[in-house]
Amino acid sequence: MANILCIGAGYVGGPTMAVIAQKCPEHRVVVVDMDGAKIAAWQSDHLPIYEPGLKEVVLSCRDKNLFFSREVERHIAEADIIFVSVNTPTKTFGQGAGKAADLQYWEKTARQILQHSRTPKIVVEKSTLPVRTAEAMERILHSHDRDLPFDVVSNPEFLAEGTAILNMENPDRVLIGARDTPSGLKAMQAIVDIYAHWVPRERIITTNLWSSELSKLVANAFLAQRISSINSISALCEKTEADIQEIAHAIGLDSRIGPRFLNASVGFGGSCFKKDILNLVYLCDHYGLSEVARYWEQVVRMNEYQQARFHSRILSSMFNTVAGKRIALFGAAFKANTSDTRESPALNVCRALVEERAEVVLTDPYALDNARIDLGEDARRVIFEPDPYVAAANAHAIAILTEWPLFADLDYEAIYRSMAKPAFIFDGRNILNHRGLFSIGFNVQAIGKPPLIHPAR
Ligand code: NAD
Ligand code: UGA
Repeated sequence: MANILCIGAGYVGGPTMAVIAQKCPEHRVVVVDMDGAKIAAWQSDHLPIYEPGLKEVVLSCRDKNLFFSREVERHIAEADIIFVSVNTPTKTFGQGAGKAADLQYWEKTARQILQHSRTPKIVVEKSTLPVRTAEAMERILHSHDRDLPFDVVSNPEFLAEGTAILNMENPDRVLIGARDTPSGLKAMQAIVDIYAHWVPRERIITTNLWSSELSKLVANAFLAQRISSINSISALCEKTEADIQEIAHAIGLDSRIGPRFLNASVGFGGSCFKKDILNLVYLCDHYGLSEVARYWEQVVRMNEYQQARFHSRILSSMFNTVAGKRIALFGAAFKANTSDTRESPALNVCRALVEERAEVVLTDPYALDNARIDLGEDARRVIFEPDPYVAAANAHAIAILTEWPLFADLDYEAIYRSMAKPAFIFDGRNILNHRGLFSIGFNVQAIGKPPLIHPAR
């Protein structure tokens, strides 16, 4: 039996540890966080995040071999293996502001581990970190004269929100990096043994520390690059009457390209793509690789362009003014099946329309509470409405911003009847039946598609 601790009970720490606890009943898993309200939520019926299947997994092992606690110090002392899953946001101050990773939470954890440890520990980097961070962690952990053995292992997380449990239960791969020393390899084996409870051995890959750390940034950069690539072509489609979905299908059938992550959209969001690419850009600049930095930076720029293009298109289609017009935004979450609104393109479009003095109504099945928080001051100028039919009533336009399946299944004839005319629909996720909407009477504009506009009568 091992005492496993995870520091950080967020989107990664909570779900990953719940699955580890369920799959490894002989181990004791404790998840700690300095945010007491979050821990209380993990202990309650209302988990702090919405994630399909999560509640079932948590309930299957909570208070058996899975525990949530605020007592960070005590559990550090008891642990054999410590996963560190704290937030590593983009730095907002000082050197590297706007690009570099803010490692203050990470560093604080390293010092806490050192201060409260009396026995050897394996420290696992679960957070996404700049390459060579493990070196800094090792230096902090070995800075004390107690000379306790600590091994630092990298085990980046590849789960995507909305499918976190499926991704954990059936990962494409698990990546574990460690030092090529006897104790490093022993520590690596201990982490391999945890995942080997349910992941086929050939999908658990082991590398050196730096490859593991850097692979995480590179995986996110490649995924985001695909989205920016297809989005860049969507702009060309809108000029040429080519159809982005037909193109994605045609190129995706090439087995070298593959069909996934080719959905053109209003832009990618989420807490990680932008921050991780900017971190990669910062690292490249740091190592004097300016051309490489500029190459990856463009992925983020293209994403900003795509969002700006979307709300400009709303404005220009609606006779260059939306002031005083009710616009229903369908979706606040950065993607479907999550309540997370961090870096959500929906909120950027929302802010831009508020700026244009539109009457913005935001609807979402799970993400309105987070949207209200993330919008800050602008929230006062937005109406939050859980029912999409109510949101759309008397609106001049609807914009689909999150690909929740429920938005595709609404009664658009009824919605059309309730709206101001001419009624516009802007599909930022290409989930609706555009021809059908056009025949109902809507003017339809979708990403990377020819517009369907009724001529003036
Ligand atoms: P999060 O903000 O949801 O959770 C981090 C938690 O750590 C917070 O609850 C915070 O209170 C806690 N924390 C910070 N410092 C602490 C300390 N010293 N002691 C105790 N608790 C502390 O973040 P997240 O989305 O779970 O991401 C965590 C890391 O995982 C990041 O590096 C991120 O890049 C990476 N990651 C995230 C995802 C994702 O889908 N969200 C996927 C893969 C990797
Ligand atoms: C992403 C990665 O997919 C995970 O592997 C990684 O672990 C995680 O980031 C992380 O490091 O945080 P996530 O951001 O949760 O996961 O969700 P994705 O499914 O990757 O979607 C990201 C954004 O891209 C969403 O806004 C989504 O709507 C958008 N997207 C995705 C598109 O616009 N088009 C696509 O074809 C796919």
